[in-house]
Amino acid sequence: MNNKYELIYEGKAKKVFTHDDLDKVIIEFKDDATAFNALKKAKFEGKGKLNCLISARIFELLMKNNIPTHFLELKNQNTMIAKKIKVIPLEIVLRNYAYGSLCKQTTFKPGTLLAKPLIDIYLKDDALNDPLITKDRIELMNIISSENLNLILDLTLKINEILKKFFQNIHLKLVDFKLEFGYDFKKNILLADEISPDNCRLWDLNQKNDIIVSLDKDRFRNDLGGLIEAYSEIHRRINNFI
Ligand code: TMP
Repeated sequence: MNNKYELIYEGKAKKVFTHDDLDKVIIEFKDDATAFNALKKAKFEGKGKLNCLISARIFELLMKNNIPTHFLELKNQNTMIAKKIKVIPLEIVLRNYAYGSLCKQTTFKPGTLLAKPLIDIYLKDDALNDPLITKDRIELMNIISSENLNLILDLTLKINEILKKFFQNIHLKLVDFKLEFGYDFKKNILLADEISPDNCRLWDLNQKNDIIVSLDKDRFRNDLGGLIEAYSEIHRRINNFI
């Protein structure tokens, strides 16, 4: 990155830099992958570029459907310009099917279709290992007003409807995904972070039997191999469709 821009924040998968305009930031997607709160780490050449391009496409799709997001434009293949936001320290997970931590913490069998979308909220705090949190705890910790929390939950359900249909069209099952939101300068709530195979579970529907073929970060989490091939396939299907 051109050194006239200052690094504001470095996360596990992205770096955020200043922009000439004070209300914008430059987000660089890294090739690093982490799992289990960074207990497991690796680098996959080309992952940053794929996640950046996939996220840009998904943000554009959501904005066309009246979802407010921080995305402004691609700067290059692994860098995007976004509105500067103040991050709300919550990770909103929506699950259509039971998998991952839900199956470890409940008696749901992996792959079960849930009777309705389930929203699990986690506190975004690495030191505490991003614990599952309740609405009452959120209120008592003064993280967000209940009105704004309801707005976020409502947006999450709408995003699910848009993404579910979109991924179905490209023969992918949207099992679950994680969202993050923030406030812009005017205190509007915007969808932030990224939407990519790093934070969505996507299963291939082009399979003859009912076997699960993950085209997402579970390839790394569960040592399945072929992560770049899977992300490239998602990118290819999105580009061929839009
Ligand atoms: P989980 O089953 O491990 O709780 O994950 C649910 C979804 O959230 C899955 O699509 C992966 C995503 N996720 C993240 O994006 N970041 C995280 O730190 C975790 C734990 C999950």
